[in-house]
Amino acid sequence: MAHLSVNLCGLMMKNPTMLASGVLDETGRSMLEVAKAGAGALVTKSVGKEPRQGHGNPSIVELQCGLINAMGLPNPGMEIYAAEVKEAKKGGVPVIGSVFGGTEDEIAELAGLMSRAGADAVELNLSCPHAKGYGAELGSTPELVESICRKAKKLATVPLLAKLTPNTSSISSLAVAAERGGADAVVAINTLKAMAISPEARMPILANKFGGLSGPAIKSIGVRCVYEIFESVKIPIVGVGGISSGRDALEYVMAGATAVQIGTAVWTEGLEVFSKTSREIMQFMEENGFESVKDMVGVAHPGRN
Ligand code: DHB
Repeated sequence: MAHLSVNLCGLMMKNPTMLASGVLDETGRSMLEVAKAGAGALVTKSVGKEPRQGHGNPSIVELQCGLINAMGLPNPGMEIYAAEVKEAKKGGVPVIGSVFGGTEDEIAELAGLMSRAGADAVELNLSCPHAKGYGAELGSTPELVESICRKAKKLATVPLLAKLTPNTSSISSLAVAAERGGADAVVAINTLKAMAISPEARMPILANKFGGLSGPAIKSIGVRCVYEIFESVKIPIVGVGGISSGRDALEYVMAGATAVQIGTAVWTEGLEVFSKTSREIMQFMEENGFESVKDMVGVAHPGRN
């Protein structure tokens, strides 16, 4: 009998869909709703050491093909957010705690704190495309990615996932660096640095000028990145970027992803996107003779299909 369950570096998921960081994950209660809607795992909001207000408005621009957002990593700080992680755990699916920091030591410390808060895994946000001193400013250099992962791995007591930026000439070099540093999996991709301008106002729309582009516009870039990474590392890959259907998820899986994350489509289509995506994957498996998602991982690569 075909089944949807996957084992992602020890995390047992009932299906390969996860909530991506940054959407409906401000509170434990909102994450419980996502679990109830059928997500196989939840990724929390990116949390830092101290409380952060984030950027002023406008912080989101809606486009035909996606969204550009520059929230500015708003969060209440790890100490307070720990209670939300505990609440989210009541959903009965793995909870992956996303953390960001301004230095290697801070990120490593947060990986430890997130483990202690009860997260089943830690995702390092090494890829926010626009926050000064954070994210992609640290995560674009393989050497830094490697040493951040090595330090975080020492303090994390649960599997470590490194979320990588596509705003680079070689995302597979970043993945190799994460693997060398001891990451248990990589997540690809975060948003692409982008902007929108209002001709009437003659100025950028976002208060922060630049933001991260997500949604359908970036799916083909994400699939390409996962495909390249799959040829470079042995650790599992989580695919993310523009997924809103079973077919989108299958592209990522066949490029090499063990599981997928859904973010913008939760915003545009609602919570049903998780059960719909799972149902469509299952239907494809039944029609095409696949017993498990694992059997489809990477099959788009030469010699694997
Ligand atoms: C923000 C963070 C991200 O990692 C991202 O991809 C886009 C926006 C933010 O908080 O602004």
